[in-house]
Amino acid sequence: MSAVLRPARTADVARVAALEVDLFGTDAWNEAQVLAELSAPGRAMLVADDVARHAADDAAVGERPQVVGYAVLGVAGDVADLLRIGVAPAARRTGVATALLAHLLPAARAAGAERMLLEVSAANTGAQGFYAAAGFAEIHRRPRYYRDGSAALVLARELDGTSGG
Ligand SMILES: CC(C)(COP(=O)(O)OP(=O)(O)OC[C@H]1O[C@@H](n2cnc3c(N)ncnc32)[C@H](O)[C@@H]1OP(=O)(O)O)[C@@H](O)C(=O)NCCC(=O)NCCS
Repeated sequence: MSAVLRPARTADVARVAALEVDLFGTDAWNEAQVLAELSAPGRAMLVADDVARHAADDAAVGERPQVVGYAVLGVAGDVADLLRIGVAPAARRTGVATALLAHLLPAARAAGAERMLLEVSAANTGAQGFYAAAGFAEIHRRPRYYRDGSAALVLARELDGTSGG
């Protein structure tokens, strides 16, 4: 996968909302919520375009590369919240989420954050594997947090001033 990162635009809202449904089901943000996140103060929304698929597919000439991943960061004071990170199933395990996070970690630091927090379902072992690989550790657990009744693990990673991912 050859993905190129860029800030999300209004034109990406429908695609991001479609990925939300695929990835988060009943907890998905709808288009209005994605649009609200895109324009909210203190937010950064990044998308990853699959440029290799575009270049390799003759039928796609003239079409825009498809968004295969996205991430949403909120910074308030010294805390950065990773509100979303998601990658389309066909694009997983190719480093897309790692690239998104590698951009957001120094951006959060530059915005004044000293640590990054996130919530992940206790049932979401795949994402937990990703976060462990990215240096996050559990600091808290919220029982029955999600609509399916699963607990939320609150994970944290210090932002030590390096650009590590
Ligand atoms: C979690 C998610 C964002 C990871 O995206 P990704 O682009 O596939 O991740 P990367 O390719 O950057 O993975 C980097 C490393 O993280 C770890 N990792 C990633 N996915 C993993 C999984 N399913 N199980 C275990 N470890 C995993 C691995 O160490 C991986 O390195 P490797 O592929 O060389 O072994 C993706 O699986 C996803 O979108 N899941 C559904 C949405 C979701 O759960 N988002 C998080 C909500 S809190």
